[in-house]
Amino acid sequence: MKSEYPMNHFLDIHKTSAADLHGIIDQAKAMKQARQGRPKGMLDDELPLAGQMVALIFEKPSTRTRISFDVGVRQMGGQSMVLSGKDMQLGHGETIADTARVMSRYVDLIMIRTFDETVLTEMAEYATVPVINGLTDRTHPCQIMADIQTYEEHRGPIKGKKVVWAGDGNNVCASFLHAAAQFGFDLTFTGPAQLDPEEEFVGLARRAGSKVVIERDAVKAVAGADLVVADTWVSMHDSQSSKERRHNMLRPYQINDALMAHAKEDALFMHCLPAHREEEVTSSVMDGPQSVIFDEAENRLHAQKAIMRWCLGL
Ligand code: CP
Ligand code: NVA
Repeated sequence: MKSEYPMNHFLDIHKTSAADLHGIIDQAKAMKQARQGRPKGMLDDELPLAGQMVALIFEKPSTRTRISFDVGVRQMGGQSMVLSGKDMQLGHGETIADTARVMSRYVDLIMIRTFDETVLTEMAEYATVPVINGLTDRTHPCQIMADIQTYEEHRGPIKGKKVVWAGDGNNVCASFLHAAAQFGFDLTFTGPAQLDPEEEFVGLARRAGSKVVIERDAVKAVAGADLVVADTWVSMHDSQSSKERRHNMLRPYQINDALMAHAKEDALFMHCLPAHREEEVTSSVMDGPQSVIFDEAENRLHAQKAIMRWCLGL
């Protein structure tokens, strides 16, 4: 697949070729292995980001994305700055295009977490340095790269496996659908019809040959699952006033021990975090033997280091 941009932006999983995505995962695994047991602040053996300046812009809260990108840049010998969108002129009327052109004169790589996807795409269009999607209302590709790495470390290739997404067909679910197309796994969505994933994303995965099933019955959906995934019922871009309505719709899709019992015996459980314990998932599942949630969180670091190297061609 040829990119529509003259440089390696990491905007969405379906916009990067499958070969490059596999290469990124392989590099993430190798880089993780290479620094096993090392203190977090110690440099990697190779320093591909030496001399590189990375800007990390957040228009929404973040714990994992903020810290893992910052640490990753430093471990690879680069320098990073964490910027809050609301403290920038960006939040006070300066256009995205002008911001992108200005920032490209100062930094070598931009990561942005924002609301509307068009902010990301406009940034990518006007920046003369690579841009990484650190989550929008619509997608969260870095998370899913870490999740693929995590699945494969525990269970081998994800190709041909059955992934079940339970709950809201949100931004993280969308990137799972993109990944289904690129990594060749099947995805069953179980949740209320009002919160189905976007038809465009379902169609994309199906056209690529993935089996995508929409199943309203959570027990039927989870049968034979290799991986069960949940996320918050109220995302950062959802209004707080919708909370009660969403909870009422989503309650039948809570991941608990009774539901997990219908998945394969060796099924894994994932959640991108932050989680709301006893809402979308019980603590018994989160802290149980099938859960790999903290490995996922750790792998954000390793996967994103590999993504940054790919963006910069280093
Ligand atoms: N999973 C994830 O992106 O977490 P943060 O919102 O803490 O960055
Ligand atoms: N769907 C969640 C993911 C958080 C990492 C949100 O957008 O708030």
